[in-house]
Amino acid sequence: MSTLLSVEDCDGLTVGQVHDLYRRFVNRSQVRLMTSFGFGRELVERAEGAYLHLRDGRRVLDFTGGVGVLSHGHNHPRILAVRRRFAEQRRMEVHKTYFSPYVAALGHNLAELLPGDLSMSFLPNSGAEAVEGAVKLAYKYHGGRRHTILHADISFHGKLLGSGTLTGAARGQFAYPGIPGAVPFAYGDLDSVRAAVREHRGDVYAILVEPMSASTVRQCSEEFLRGLRELCTAEDIVLIFDEIYTGWGKTGSLFYFMRYPGLVPDVLTTSKSFGGGKSSISAYVARQPIFRKAYDNAADALAHSTSTTYYGFGEECATAIEAVNIAVEDDYPGRARRIGEILGPGLRRIAKQHPDAVARVEGAGALWGVSIAGGPKVLDLAAKLAPGGLARDPRLRAKLVTAAVVSALYLDHDIYSYYALNGDHPLIAGPPLVIEPDEVERFLDSLDTVLGQGLTKLLTRFAAQKVSSLW
Ligand SMILES: Cc1ncc(COP(=O)(O)O)c(C=O)c1O
Repeated sequence: MSTLLSVEDCDGLTVGQVHDLYRRFVNRSQVRLMTSFGFGRELVERAEGAYLHLRDGRRVLDFTGGVGVLSHGHNHPRILAVRRRFAEQRRMEVHKTYFSPYVAALGHNLAELLPGDLSMSFLPNSGAEAVEGAVKLAYKYHGGRRHTILHADISFHGKLLGSGTLTGAARGQFAYPGIPGAVPFAYGDLDSVRAAVREHRGDVYAILVEPMSASTVRQCSEEFLRGLRELCTAEDIVLIFDEIYTGWGKTGSLFYFMRYPGLVPDVLTTSKSFGGGKSSISAYVARQPIFRKAYDNAADALAHSTSTTYYGFGEECATAIEAVNIAVEDDYPGRARRIGEILGPGLRRIAKQHPDAVARVEGAGALWGVSIAGGPKVLDLAAKLAPGGLARDPRLRAKLVTAAVVSALYLDHDIYSYYALNGDHPLIAGPPLVIEPDEVERFLDSLDTVLGQGLTKLLTRFAAQKVSSLW
């Protein structure tokens, strides 16, 4: 008899069995890390809108927004319907050398919604692939004659070898081999970019930047972004905006950069909620003249791909078409602005009420970060809890106190949140855009109550739960 597990078997696995399978066949360190939090010790039965329904019947408010993927919430009915229709009509999934009406329509819609002549799309599967596609395009645009690419010191662009090289946040971590010519500049500092361009005069093929950095919640100023545009135009440098996380209304405009009329990058990358919470799909969209110069000849007709196996699958694209239409018809930018009108003032009020616990509150629309700090006493305690040399790592201290807050929100208030793995590790308040105002208020009240306990108590409790498993 076969010992293979079936899909039906998955429904009957206990959390202990799932941990055991992870330990043996997936990643045992992940089990040690995630079981430090309540959510690592439970399984979700189903997920709908802004809520997770656990196996034990509890209902948890998902304030993570799927780390950017779930602006539409879990299992949006229109997304489910489009996928059901696709399956029932037995549409062709794998097009390869047949043309796909879905790729064609999605390309059209992207061009329709984006400003200027940003109109030529490629549709890989992940954010990192889109970034690398954009970088390849910029390099090819200059015919391989320029060799330097500038990126921000705090950037996050992915974990593949190329996108990882361009991720400033990866400095200090394990050094994988990377792409040559990557030079950092100080995020948001035009003088720093100008100095790098001067130093590498005539050799810079691209500047890559996140107009809003989702992993640190820092934002570029209008002056900086327009200055970059001017500089790139003057020096014929390809300007790439990475909005993998911040697209489709999340920050209060369709894309963050679109809050500034007339500002158009040469290439834009997007992913996350582009797939409606179901499709693993991303895009890079290039200005037509840039794309044409790089790839518009028979020899290069297929050169710009970053994925050939899963490129342009029918159901993925159909889902993205629906996801984009929902974001536009249901005014996701407006929804994000209204969420921000509650979240922004609410978080600033909390920061004032808990000056010892909150160091910084920053954000836009429905994407906010709360940097948890704590005075020296709390940091001393955090250092004591951390094993060995880790105790001296200032980033680890921020992680610990923020993890303690995330854990208390979950255990005491049934709110699922997370902290960013970059910068000062802010607790991210980034709910799905389908959330209601009273649910945003509930998050604020809960955070207020949690911080009211004091960080020392929260840390001690978190440590008692399982702190050693964090590492
Ligand atoms: C701004 C940004 N760029 C790139 C990426 C990488 O995307 P992926 O994880 O899909 O490769 C992310 C992922 O969070 C991101 O936030």
